[in-house]
Amino acid sequence: MKFITFENNDKLPMLGLGTWKSAPGEVYQAVLWALEAGYRHIDCAAIYQNEKEVGDALKKAFDDGLVKREEVFVTSKLWNNAHEKDQVKVGLNKTLQDLQLDYLDLYLIHWPVSLKSHVMFPEKGEDFLDYSQVPLSETWSGMEALKAEGKLKHIGVSNFNQGKIKELLDSCQVKPEMNQIELHPYLPQNDLVNYCKKNGIHVTAYSPLGSADRPKARKKEDDPILLEHPLFKEIADKHGVSTAQVLIAWSLHRDIAVIPKSANKERIKQNLEAADIRLDAADMKAIEGISVHHRYIDGTFFTEVPGSPFSQSDLWDSL
Ligand code: A2P
Repeated sequence: MKFITFENNDKLPMLGLGTWKSAPGEVYQAVLWALEAGYRHIDCAAIYQNEKEVGDALKKAFDDGLVKREEVFVTSKLWNNAHEKDQVKVGLNKTLQDLQLDYLDLYLIHWPVSLKSHVMFPEKGEDFLDYSQVPLSETWSGMEALKAEGKLKHIGVSNFNQGKIKELLDSCQVKPEMNQIELHPYLPQNDLVNYCKKNGIHVTAYSPLGSADRPKARKKEDDPILLEHPLFKEIADKHGVSTAQVLIAWSLHRDIAVIPKSANKERIKQNLEAADIRLDAADMKAIEGISVHHRYIDGTFFTEVPGSPFSQSDLWDSL
């Protein structure tokens, strides 16, 4: 297993279990299967609405002696409706309570988009708070304060483009240590990854398998299916592995943490085994040459809400 080493020498196993889309009825078992298989990195978020069950699974694993708290790297994310300074703490406390933890290893601002505290998903312009009402620096200083209290080992962001990261870097006391972004061969994010690395920010790839199980509202009819591209099958056959494993190994090869989601025991195990696959230069070059470019999670559910103060340029630099 490859690790990311933070400045204070804490280590993050680069391959973790994603829990987005794992339903409350299945995520408990998925987390336990993952820990039994050897995963030591679990990626969560308040908006996945399953943190209570993830917490039950972690408690069971700790109680049974399967793993100790300090051996598991747990990430969660602050939802958009808790960006106001006094709300950041409220958001974290709810997550800690649900996960039954007294600290997180990593906490991320989930999106550079703010909502009023009673709103989960926006439907109209009044549901939002624009940057003059809640600057990102306000949310970030809330994150810094919680880190100083010892409730967070590391803090970072998700879905931040270069401009938004620069804004934080220009005003922060503690710099972000992670940017979690959609990343796979259809969206390799070369420029953003280079920018992050140049600034000492690590990168985690979400939707590394193309999130085919994303909700209908996040799907368009002509979306390409990542796992079905014939090149991955060709490379998989060459190494005697699965196409999903090729996609996971591709991120690891680039020193990018990766959090494939599965709620299936065999696939959870199979995905972890991708940590031992070594793609060669020819594989990487062939994947780099793929002509399909696609972003599955395009953020239009924020930017296309009538009256939204946020635009696509607040989210992405390019495709
Ligand atoms: P399942 O949970 O039934 O295993 P992403 O991580 O990009 O969000 O993708 C998650 C999707 O990929 C889910 O539909 C998940 O289904 C599926 N998946 C996870 N692991 C594998 C695998 N090894 N082979 C095929 N599909 C997989």
